Amino acid sequence: MCGIIGAVAQRNVAPILIEGLKRLEYRGYDSAGVALLQQQEIHRIRTTGRVVTLEEAVRKQGAHGITGIAHTRWATHGAPTEDNAHPHVSGGIAVVHNGIIENHEVLRAELRQAGYVFVSQTDTEVIAHLVHFYFKTSQDLFAATREAVARLHGAYAIGVVCNSMPNKLVAARQGSPLLIGVGVEEHFIASDASALLPVTQRFIYLEDGDIAEIGLTSIAVQDKNGQPAEREIMQSEMRPEMVELGEYRHYMQKEIHEQPRALSDTLQELVTNGIQPMLYGPEGESVLSSIERITFLACGTSYHAALTARYWIEALAGIPCNAEIASEYRYRTSVPDPKALIVTISQSGETADTLSALKHAQSLGHNYSLAICNVSESALVRESRLNMITRAGPEIGVASTKAFTTQLAALFTLALVLAKLRGKIDAAAEQKHLEALRALPGQMQRVLALEGQIQKWSEHFAEKQHALFLGRGLHYPIALEGALKLKEISYIHAEAYPAGELKHGPLALVDKDMPVIAIAPNDALLEKLKSNLQEVRARGGELYVVVDEDTHIQEMDEIHKITLPLHAGWLSPILHVVPLQMLSYHAALQKGTDVDKPRNLAKSVTVE
Ligand code: F6R
Repeated sequence: MCGIIGAVAQRNVAPILIEGLKRLEYRGYDSAGVALLQQQEIHRIRTTGRVVTLEEAVRKQGAHGITGIAHTRWATHGAPTEDNAHPHVSGGIAVVHNGIIENHEVLRAELRQAGYVFVSQTDTEVIAHLVHFYFKTSQDLFAATREAVARLHGAYAIGVVCNSMPNKLVAARQGSPLLIGVGVEEHFIASDASALLPVTQRFIYLEDGDIAEIGLTSIAVQDKNGQPAEREIMQSEMRPEMVELGEYRHYMQKEIHEQPRALSDTLQELVTNGIQPMLYGPEGESVLSSIERITFLACGTSYHAALTARYWIEALAGIPCNAEIASEYRYRTSVPDPKALIVTISQSGETADTLSALKHAQSLGHNYSLAICNVSESALVRESRLNMITRAGPEIGVASTKAFTTQLAALFTLALVLAKLRGKIDAAAEQKHLEALRALPGQMQRVLALEGQIQKWSEHFAEKQHALFLGRGLHYPIALEGALKLKEISYIHAEAYPAGELKHGPLALVDKDMPVIAIAPNDALLEKLKSNLQEVRARGGELYVVVDEDTHIQEMDEIHKITLPLHAGWLSPILHVVPLQMLSYHAALQKGTDVDKPRNLAKSVTVE
């Protein structure tokens, strides 16, 4: 989704802004632009397509400036054209924006009446004109921005500069992420910390409703009530090399291979100190002992983690769970239960649907909330009473991989904590679970070693239009995740079904052109699954089966088999998803798609 970067410094900020935009590319975008202040003039350059095209234009035009803002745009209102690209300019004011202004039509009509001429189809252009409108009277950029944002409905993170104020940057946020990078006699703004790592590791995370006036040596923040606000400067643990590609061809490949490390980092505290509710924060024990049910709220891959967790928590802790797609829950009339724990799951912690679903739950009186999230400073973590931070490290590829398996690890931990609090596991069982978790990174390494075999499978997928994924029980959400991965990066249409559901409809789709990928661990449902696979074979379907070492399924014509280590029990989904991630990666390579930035998609979905 859109990326923002801005800088006030005593050096030319053009290279900092371009480097920042490159680091925000992973969020997904279709055009880019920059505005630099040069001798009381705004030098604006905008291009469609990749940031390198903008970089080239900046170089050719010799654009430079000591203050500037820049943007990558993921089109919502208006096509991805140069005219619609940010920054938008009104008089001497330039604005970049991430989010959606819901009342832009009303404001547009009002501003037209006031004589403003619109040159784009974007909602953002109204912000530029509004700031300009108020600035004409006050000649105060901060005050004008405050008056302008008070008129906006919807979500925004904005950066504003003015040609008559060469060392000033104004930033505001409501619902979309924005932080301030603190340097030495220079300051920055960005949508996320990774964009600024080459220039600083010290950040101020703005809160909803905050407006900041940023100069070379000063940062003044006002909160939503217009009161001066102290915001802590946080030192990031992120190092620049964490977001570098290194020896890998794509971030997705790097992130798939980082999973053993990501899992052991996420599980470190648990396996060292044992199962304890403090893992979720100081209120862990009191909250987790009080709840009687769980509602999971999440989107996409994170929703699949929720679906898996439901099986674990109901079976191990005996607590009823339901998992809901955040954007559905948000607008559904649900029956609140004061004893329910709302668990949100998110890689970014900034997904607008998940954040609004949490706020909706809170507005219904839900008092217990837990965020499972990969970004400790994110809005979701800040809004939740308890949290568990997954230690996947920055995930750059649009397709979520290591974030998913670490979410699963965190959720399995939650199942164990709840089970222990309810006396459902004794010391011996606790030790067995901890041993299994300790062994997990090593087992994952063995699964990753199967990449060559998966690559061979992927050659069969290059010409396919459709694919069907099957799983049962705990592995049905893994089938869903395999299908999502395949469609989002290889653009092959994929569906997932619980295998028992096949005969109730989808079997009609099966023929020799429909590859069927089945997850067949050696669990209690294996024999049932084998019968379902026979149903596929009998209709001429070609089967690709991911089995455990001790599963007796024979490889033969039209049954391709990949064998994982011995059945990992409850942890099996965390291993079985890995071949599916690798399959989608290699299928995408076969098809020549843009693996890390698939068409139409964005990494951090900060609009509803
Ligand atoms: C799929 C994918 C998305 C995200 C979804 C939620 O590979 O990455 O489906 O899982 O947009 O994002 P987060 O987890 O950041 O809330």
